[in-house]
Amino acid sequence: MVNALLKSPGMLAFLTFMTFWSLAASHVIPSLALPSDLHSRQAPKLKAGAWLMTYKPSGSSQTYKGSLRVTSDSSSLHISGDWYNSTAQPNPADGIPILPRSNYYAFIRATKLTSGNNRAFTMGLEAFRFKGFHEINNYTVWDDSSAPLDGGYITDLSPTTAPTGYPDSRNYFEGDMKIIGSGSVAGRFTMGWVNEYVRKITLEIGSVSGMEVPNKDISGQRTWKNIFSEVGWDIKIVLGKTDIPEPTNTNLPAGMWKSEQQHAAMLQYRKETDFDKEWKYYLLLVKRLEGVERGAMFDPGYEYNSIPREGTAVANEWIVGTIWDGTNDTGRNWGTATGKKFVTVHDAWFRTCVHEVGHFFNLQHPPEFVQGVMTDTQTYVDAGRDGLTAQKFPENVGSESLKFTDSDKFLMMHRPDLFLRPGFVKFGAAAQNSEPPEAAPLR
Ligand SMILES: *[C@@H]1O[C@H](CO)[C@@H](O)[C@H](O)[C@H]1NC(C)=O
Ligand SMILES: *[C@@H]1O[C@H](CO)[C@@H](O)[C@H](O)[C@H]1NC(C)=O
Ligand SMILES: *[C@@H]1O[C@H](CO)[C@@H](O)[C@H](O)[C@H]1NC(C)=O
Repeated sequence: MVNALLKSPGMLAFLTFMTFWSLAASHVIPSLALPSDLHSRQAPKLKAGAWLMTYKPSGSSQTYKGSLRVTSDSSSLHISGDWYNSTAQPNPADGIPILPRSNYYAFIRATKLTSGNNRAFTMGLEAFRFKGFHEINNYTVWDDSSAPLDGGYITDLSPTTAPTGYPDSRNYFEGDMKIIGSGSVAGRFTMGWVNEYVRKITLEIGSVSGMEVPNKDISGQRTWKNIFSEVGWDIKIVLGKTDIPEPTNTNLPAGMWKSEQQHAAMLQYRKETDFDKEWKYYLLLVKRLEGVERGAMFDPGYEYNSIPREGTAVANEWIVGTIWDGTNDTGRNWGTATGKKFVTVHDAWFRTCVHEVGHFFNLQHPPEFVQGVMTDTQTYVDAGRDGLTAQKFPENVGSESLKFTDSDKFLMMHRPDLFLRPGFVKFGAAAQNSEPPEAAPLR
């Protein structure tokens, strides 16, 4: 539930972004238009997943490092990454590197990939520096899309034996990175494959006593693990404290939580968390929520501390067909779910848990109905009523509603870390900048 945010001035920016995104998404190269010299130009078969990359500019003590993400499907290959200027050296044996937020330096995208001999290849790269947050609305400020660092690079990479710790000795490449305009060497670049996933997160689930904990849909086919695997993310679920005491609010029904109480409980009961070492999110399950029917992130911005997007809460005992304060939602027909405790309408409830977690990654509600987990529950009710789905709510909540759409999948795989990782860009408009430019399809 993000209505308040969507009504904010940021909505305009969001719509602008979505228009930009739709244009980008529709710009798919038709297969008939393949160049005739495809064979010689064909991109090398780079192993999909996360690579640990390093770039050491010549004559500098600095080394930029981070993850380089390679994903491919039948029609295209995308490569993006992030550089951090931390002094910490990621251990390749730890898999996907996670570096301190304060060292975030630049977003990287590959612009070109060409095969050479003996598994060597050439990769065009562009780096766009993150310059900080705008004081108005906390928008992010980046190098302009026409001004990548040094005007862009060309990197000639050859296979080399991987240093100790890399899990795949065959997939380690090293070479000079040259400034595209002058051809002069800017520095040394390395990339070694570290993991089949492109991103890894931990979700800690905590609750008050007696709450069911979300694991999977009724069919058992849709689990946290496979919903996230489909978008190239490795999710680890950690069960936290499950008997968190309920607050007493004299002016609210028993079992109902205020937003600041959710945040305080997370800080008090969550297991040890270091956002500079892991991407950790917290899901709190309670009976009911003040001002919210099903679920909502309780710290989308800087409400309680300087760490946005740490936690979200879901109301297991919201009565379907009511609004949060218990009065009848006369505006909608909730079908056979009407009058039931939300948790007993299992798939709709499980879907809300995944949906609220999806907002952590700055994913928004699609502007109109599409099957997918980021489409909100009310929109499923309306889609059933309007005949956009074969069945009405809640029967129209099936496995297709428990997937990230292709456009969300792209954002999750290839947006810069700072829009996705906790404690960085705040939710909503601040994340909808159309800079830096997105990773573009390579062939
Ligand atoms: C990272 O870069 C920023 C901006 O250039 C600089 O202020 C900071 O000192 C650098 N940090 C390290 C560890 O090199
Ligand atoms: C976020 O923006 C608000 C104004 O819109 C400003 O007052 C605040 O200082 C900014 N905070 C950060 C952390 O950028
Ligand atoms: C709300 O009102 C409608 C129409 O009177 C009724 O059909 C429905 O059962 C009521 N819902 C609840 C949860 O009481």
